[in-house]
Amino acid sequence: MENTEVKEFRMPLIGDPAPSFKAKTTQGDISFPEDFKGKWIILFSHPADFTPVCTTEFMTFASMQDEFEKLNTQLIGLSVDSIYSHIAWLRTIQEKIEYKGMKNVEVKFPLIEDISMNVANKFGMIQPNVSTTQAVRAVFVIDPKAVIRTILYYPASTGRNFDEIKRIIIALQKADAEQIATPADWRPGEDVIIPPAGSCGTAKDRMSDKDGDKYCLDWFMCFKREKPESK
Ligand code: BEZ
Repeated sequence: MENTEVKEFRMPLIGDPAPSFKAKTTQGDISFPEDFKGKWIILFSHPADFTPVCTTEFMTFASMQDEFEKLNTQLIGLSVDSIYSHIAWLRTIQEKIEYKGMKNVEVKFPLIEDISMNVANKFGMIQPNVSTTQAVRAVFVIDPKAVIRTILYYPASTGRNFDEIKRIIIALQKADAEQIATPADWRPGEDVIIPPAGSCGTAKDRMSDKDGDKYCLDWFMCFKREKPESK
C-alpha cells in the first residue's frame, strides 16, 4: 500500500513550551532547550547563507552579542543550509565584509544546520506560500523556563530591527520581575504601566491614591513613575 502519511506540524504559539530538538551547529552539537537552562533565548531563522540582507543581520546581531549576554540571553541562528556553508559564510563575513563601520565581525553564537528542516518545521519557520525550501525570517523569544514569550515573522525583503528585539527582552524581564506592563514605544527608564486586573484596589482607590510613584490618567490607566538612574 502506498505510504500517504503526511507530517503535520502545528505552529507553536506564545505561552507554549518551546519544541525540543537536537542539532548540529557551528559551535558544536546542542540539545535544546536543556543546554540553555536558566537563560533567555532568541532563536531566529534566516532564508539562506550568502545573501545580503541576512549578512547585514548577522553582522548586526553578532556585534550586539555582549549586550545580549548582559541580559542573560543566548542567541541561536538557524537556516536550512549545511554546516559547511555556515562556516564558509561566517568566515567570509569575518574576513571580507565591512558594513556600517562593522568589520572583522566574529559570529560566536551557534548557527544551526537544518538541512532536514526538522527544527524549522517544528517552529513554523517554513511557510510554504513563500518557500518550501527556505525558512522565513522568524524570531522566537523563549524564557528561562523554555516557554515561548514572543514570536515575530518578517518577510525575506525586510531586515530585522535588533534594537527592537533587545527592547522586547528588557521589557519581558522587567514585566516578570515587577509585575508591570510597558506602554507603546517604551524605552528602559521610562514610566511603566500598573496592570488593572484587581491588583491595585478599586478604580476609585487607584485614581485617588497619591502614593508618590503612582499616577493615573483615568480609572483604567495607571502608571508607575520610574526613578531616574543615579549616576
Ligand atoms: C537576503 O538575505 O538578502 C535575501 C534572502 C532571501 C530572499 C531575499 C533576500
